[in-house]
Amino acid sequence: MPTILLLNGPNLNLLGQREPAVYGYETLADVEALAQAACASGFTVDARQSNWEGQLIDWIHEARGNAAGIVINPGAFTHTSVALLDALNAFEGPVIEVHISQVHKREPFRHHSYVSKRADGVIAGLGVDGYAAAVARICRLAG
Ligand code: DQA
Repeated sequence: MPTILLLNGPNLNLLGQREPAVYGYETLADVEALAQAACASGFTVDARQSNWEGQLIDWIHEARGNAAGIVINPGAFTHTSVALLDALNAFEGPVIEVHISQVHKREPFRHHSYVSKRADGVIAGLGVDGYAAAVARICRLAG
């Protein structure tokens, strides 16, 4: 069964506890369940989270030739990581970038994304619903 890789980056393990006024009260487990539910039949979601840039890069490498697409919330690495961009450039399938908060309304350092140079779609400010939209989109693109 084709797999959609759902990657969450640093600090997203603390969803529900971390700055709930910004990120809401849903937990990472809630996000992963929502993403699985948004997945068209015939696809499965492989959900992973890491606080480590290199771990995220290794998982993107593993997805080469294996995953139908990637949904990624790179957390703060969005704004800093050329290495994540390079890894995503080496992946052949569709990539959707998700941000729970509306990053463009926040501090200027959150307005730039390296990952957006590669992403086929970018979702920001829909809360955790953005993950469901991203998964549905990958299913359409890859189905
Ligand atoms: C985030 C936005 C980033 O700027 C921040 O560093 C995060 C979460 C979001 O989902 O809104 O960790 O990617």
